[in-house]
Amino acid sequence: MQSPPDDLVSTLSRYNQQHVLKWWQEISEPQQQQLVTQLQAVDFQTIASVWQASHDAAKDTPKADAPPRAELAKAPTAAVRQAASDEDTANRAAAAEVGQQLLADGKVAVITVAGGQGSRLGFDHPKGMFPVGPVSDRTLFQIFAEQILARKRRHGGEIPWLIMTSSATHHETEAFFQKHEFFGLDPLTVRFFQQGSMPAVDAATGRLLLQDQASLCLSPDGHGGLVTALKSSGLLDQMAAAGIEHFFYHQVDNPTVIMCDPVLTGLHHQHGSELTTNVVRKSSPTERMGVLVELAGKLEIIEYTELTEQQASKTDESGQWIFWAGNTAIHMFSLPFFQQLTDGGCHLELHLASKSVPHLDDAGVMVEPAVPNANKFERFIFDALPLARNALIVEGNRDREFNPVKNATGSDSPVTAKAALNRIAREWMFAAGQIVSDDSDLEISPLEALDAAEFAKKFEST
Ligand code: UD1
Repeated sequence: MQSPPDDLVSTLSRYNQQHVLKWWQEISEPQQQQLVTQLQAVDFQTIASVWQASHDAAKDTPKADAPPRAELAKAPTAAVRQAASDEDTANRAAAAEVGQQLLADGKVAVITVAGGQGSRLGFDHPKGMFPVGPVSDRTLFQIFAEQILARKRRHGGEIPWLIMTSSATHHETEAFFQKHEFFGLDPLTVRFFQQGSMPAVDAATGRLLLQDQASLCLSPDGHGGLVTALKSSGLLDQMAAAGIEHFFYHQVDNPTVIMCDPVLTGLHHQHGSELTTNVVRKSSPTERMGVLVELAGKLEIIEYTELTEQQASKTDESGQWIFWAGNTAIHMFSLPFFQQLTDGGCHLELHLASKSVPHLDDAGVMVEPAVPNANKFERFIFDALPLARNALIVEGNRDREFNPVKNATGSDSPVTAKAALNRIAREWMFAAGQIVSDDSDLEISPLEALDAAEFAKKFEST
């Protein structure tokens, strides 16, 4: 390539980003092409305005008339709580029947967001490849795959599985599924699609950072990137054409998620909800979970980073925590709602985070900053909540459904997740009248049973 495309040069100059072409003459033609492709994918206008707004806000003193969201938030009123009466139990059973019928009719697809880099866990592969089965070393992906297979066998309908990856996880994830022959699933029903990426900018100047002479510092655009990626991959249209009505959404880190939970699916459908979120009661006010709250009559999530310890412990008139409803990141979306979210561009807000980003400086020297020097941009899927009509929250059973692998040690670690799988297997064995020694590690494959009742049946019939 002799010179970069004219329109790109003028865009760069309009946004004061010409420095990214500093090494144009020195890089090879394929590298030039790569740089042009990366730059053409950048939404300069949005990035500049989000960076500018945050820069301006940092200079302003906080306004006395604009209290933080946490001060205005109320506990959510539209919550379906855990069953506390026979009537609640009957309502949940009725919802489960609706959910089962939707699954039998092939109306539900699964979305797994697996684009994160899992840096907190310190595992050098896509997190779904992490071995978590206490006896078998089953990986997270295998547990999810077997749950989907078992659900298909139980209810009879097809369940497409859409796995969102990022450039960091895509190839290894696909190769892993191929190597394991899709864990028994029909490969045609498992679809991988990549989320987009966002460039990092220098926090002080808003200038794009370079990873080397021919590439930008890029990172995944957040789980909210799902909305755009579903649309641009063509999968949203394909799912609509296949008759899918609802998506069961979950994160790759939770091995005890109840995949396509018929109760959650049924409640979501019965309420005509566009977005339903499964929550659990936080174990302590300061637990590091996002919380569902009501703000100006809309459901929203406040991240734990936004709450001071004092705010997090606040109670209402009846003495209940206001911030009780921990976000498990298990959601149900209606398909038309996803279509609305992308009509005329992505409607989810772009957030900015401060990070330390190694980069090439203007003198061509690699800099490894010890303190945050850069801003990264990402979208959060839960920003869709206040945009949804009839959004609903449903309280799940924490011990059964929420045992994520996030940290290398301590809470939400492999040790706690394995212990949870072990405990659940023990409870099912006990309920089935089976005696097991206290010190044995236990695990039940989803292909054996999806719940305690199904497991107990195995012993009735023998
Ligand atoms: C998240 C939620 C938090 C919730 C908790 C429950 C956010 C900001 N917070 O926290 O409210 O209580 O889960 O476990 O999400 N991912 C992508 N692409 C990306 C970024 C992330 O696919 O660009 C995926 C990851 O692979 C993972 C999930 O999103 O499956 C969660 O990401 P992570 O950043 O680990 O969220 P948490 O901080 O754990």
